[in-house]
Amino acid sequence: MARATPPPSPEPGGSYFSAEAFFARTSAEALTYDDVSLATNYSEILPRDARLATRISDQLTLQLPIISADMDTVTESEMAIGMALNGGLGLIHYNLSEKQQVKEVTRVKNHVHGLIQDPISVRPDQLIGDVLEMVEQREFKFRTFPVVDAQGVLVGLLSSTVVRPRYASKTVHEAMMPRPQIFTICEDDLGENRVAAADRFFSEHMGIHKLLVVDKHDSLRGLFTLSDIERITEENTSRSRAARDSHFRLVCGAAIAATRTAAGELDRARILEHVGRLVGEGLDAVAVSTAHGHTRGVGDTVRLVRDAFPDLTIIAGNVTSSEGVEFLAGSGANAVKVGQGPGSICTTRIVAGVGIPQLTALYTASSAARKCGVALIADGGITKSGDIVKALTLADAVICGGMLAGCREAPGKIIEINGKLFKQYRGMGSHEAMKAGSAARYGHEKKDVNRKAAAEGVEALKEISGSLDDTLSQLAGGIQSGMGYLGAVDLAQLKAKARYVRVTAAGQREAAPHDIIEIKTTKE
Ligand code: XMP
Repeated sequence: MARATPPPSPEPGGSYFSAEAFFARTSAEALTYDDVSLATNYSEILPRDARLATRISDQLTLQLPIISADMDTVTESEMAIGMALNGGLGLIHYNLSEKQQVKEVTRVKNHVHGLIQDPISVRPDQLIGDVLEMVEQREFKFRTFPVVDAQGVLVGLLSSTVVRPRYASKTVHEAMMPRPQIFTICEDDLGENRVAAADRFFSEHMGIHKLLVVDKHDSLRGLFTLSDIERITEENTSRSRAARDSHFRLVCGAAIAATRTAAGELDRARILEHVGRLVGEGLDAVAVSTAHGHTRGVGDTVRLVRDAFPDLTIIAGNVTSSEGVEFLAGSGANAVKVGQGPGSICTTRIVAGVGIPQLTALYTASSAARKCGVALIADGGITKSGDIVKALTLADAVICGGMLAGCREAPGKIIEINGKLFKQYRGMGSHEAMKAGSAARYGHEKKDVNRKAAAEGVEALKEISGSLDDTLSQLAGGIQSGMGYLGAVDLAQLKAKARYVRVTAAGQREAAPHDIIEIKTTKE
């Protein structure tokens, strides 16, 4: 008679189980965040010293392993700017026209980044009135412009003090500061650290707020402003770092669907043209975002984008199996999103009867991700910082929707109900969101949404939760606490040192505040 294999025992010297041993014991059951707790280890790590940087691809590193969801009630440019300033990443949703999505990405990439490489300039023969009209039309918040001739050579600087209606009939040439009076630096003299060079210049030239960059032929190559440089130097000395690209611009991601033609074929030309525009604006990651990523359409889309843009970071999903991870990695993805049905607004498991509780899904996907060398992103179901710590024992980053939807930076109106403030939060598989554009994500055509397509998400409200900065610093603090308890100085150590234990219903009750009357003190 064959003997049953004895269950794996804890590692020598340890009282609790590593991921392999723990999940092997529970293989017939699928678990999620609240089903487990992490064991503490001997630690010499103070929470504040725990490092949160994470690598999504060779080209993309985040300083905070949190990504805002590509949902139309979570991420547009304001959220993406806030995410990147806090070290994370925002994925601009695709319930927008393609043109509008490109515009949102441009807003993020043009946010404060030291050297403005393509500054808006004016011509000497323009009237001040024309400049004022441009400022109004394009909603510029600044009024100082370099003046260049038809060949792009710098001839002057138009100061904000003269961009006024009273001078509307004067020419720029009459009003500008002439070339000899303008402070410039040659791009060859900037050196490796451009921000440090500009910082030095502003310290040595009291009262000067703009520094123009030219090439050897005096053609305009860029512009530094004192306020940008001061914000960046402040950021460098603070503990929280922004996530920036190699040109010092904030990082930004955008989601796309596996768009089809009327005949049902993958619309290759349209996808490539749109991704090309996004890349042209400096996009750092494209997310091929669907409810079911282990499909021919998603695989073909990833391969199409990979072939056309070899250096672009591609995130693809969603899957919950090792085969799904291998499939997307084989198609060319750098990072794979894991999660089917864990989201706070999702009804996929109820409607379709499919999906895997998130921690088991992550464990199943994690060995394939290691084997294929792709990053893993835990998408959905995060309701507290402790969930993020648990997710990061298996994944490289998390995607949050509901946790961020109540922040003022999320798109949407604030609604007051009985004196309380709320924001709309809806599933991308809800009827209303699918009608607005996300039907393809769930494998439907927009025209079928009312009749045939079953919604896989709900429409909801989230209570306003304050600023994104506060929310993210609370989450980051929670992750660092977890790392301190496990003795992990970085996320690689967190993965290596994680030991799990199964929690019963009584354990879950014990984990939350209990047998007390909780009071809330308001912040000063
Ligand atoms: P949380 O829990 O952070 O989840 O609010 C956000 C994630 O949920 C996914 N998502 C959906 N899943 N039906 C689903 O089954 C939906 O309508 C839906 N909308 C979003 C998505 O992965 C998101 O990042």
